[in-house]
Amino acid sequence: MTIVINKVAVLAAVLLAAGSVQAQETDMPKPPIAKQKSLSPVIVIAHRGASGLRPEHTIASYTLAIEQGADFIEPDLVLTKDDVFVARHENDITDTTDVAKHAEFAARRATKIIDGEKHVGWFTEDFTLAELKTLRAKERLPLLRPNNVQYDGQFEVPTLAEVIALAKQHKVGIYPETKHPSYFAGIGHPMEARLVAQLKAAGWDSADAPVFIQSFEVDNLKRLKGMTQVRLIQLMDAKGAPADGAAPSYAAMTTPEGLKAVAAYAYGIGPNIAMASDGTLIAAAHVAGLRVHPWTFRAENFFLPKSAWIGINPRGHGRVSAEITRYVEMGVDGFFTDFPAIGVEARAAANKD
Ligand code: G3P
Ligand code: CA
Repeated sequence: MTIVINKVAVLAAVLLAAGSVQAQETDMPKPPIAKQKSLSPVIVIAHRGASGLRPEHTIASYTLAIEQGADFIEPDLVLTKDDVFVARHENDITDTTDVAKHAEFAARRATKIIDGEKHVGWFTEDFTLAELKTLRAKERLPLLRPNNVQYDGQFEVPTLAEVIALAKQHKVGIYPETKHPSYFAGIGHPMEARLVAQLKAAGWDSADAPVFIQSFEVDNLKRLKGMTQVRLIQLMDAKGAPADGAAPSYAAMTTPEGLKAVAAYAYGIGPNIAMASDGTLIAAAHVAGLRVHPWTFRAENFFLPKSAWIGINPRGHGRVSAEITRYVEMGVDGFFTDFPAIGVEARAAANKD
């Protein structure tokens, strides 16, 4: 037993050290204050596609999400050297592509400071789209999602244009996130006008377009407000502050005054699920007229509150469906999940009452 627990501890430590992995912070989910109604019909947003089951941000991941009933697919967006939007969670493509195996790109390895953090690796802004298209995606979390490793090396990095085409073909929406917009503007690749133009070209410029644009930064959303009618979502994390320095902290944005200020430019908020665990923020945001789309529901125990674990293996699946249902009953207007099929089922379970 000791050996098993040690292995579990090691796996958890490795996963925590991995980029873009955040364990659930609330040990015990709090009971809802009361059941609340959502302001809008609840949407299931496929986080980086069905990223629990395929390497994230690939056409295969988005296609599976659509097959599983997602209403929206989420491309995180960064720019190439020739200003093409591609779907990657960050401009550092070291952990999600096979770039390190390409000898012809070895000299492009660089050290950069992005939003105050040092990164060593390969970056989208140093590659043309044609060069990026020679790379293949790989699973970000091989220890946590070993079944996905079989797809390593199979899928390209998709462009936003390809994601839009897929969404239109299957009549689902897209939920793009501008990643590091201040950083990209600072190196001569501003995002906002380019994104608005591409969405307009797709026929999406109105508040009823099947599109939400999201950002952790504030000023780029304010600029977008003056450029498009597409609905905007202010993302919020459980710690820290927007990288553009436009607010002292995300916590300050959750006060009644903070939410009122957000409502002046945004349609809704996308909080870390830990921020919405007792329903208080959901109710306060609704008072300000803001929809609430928390992120991210993942099936693995590692990401769940301890009370929702099944067994002791961090990569085993826990009771995420019950977690989602609880949030839907607390009134969220949608939610991000790596497992859209589970999300669709959990939404249906909440609607049964
Ligand atoms: O965009 C919602 C959620 O995806 C934010 O977190 O880091 O997965 O982009 P991240
Ligand atoms: Ca995102």
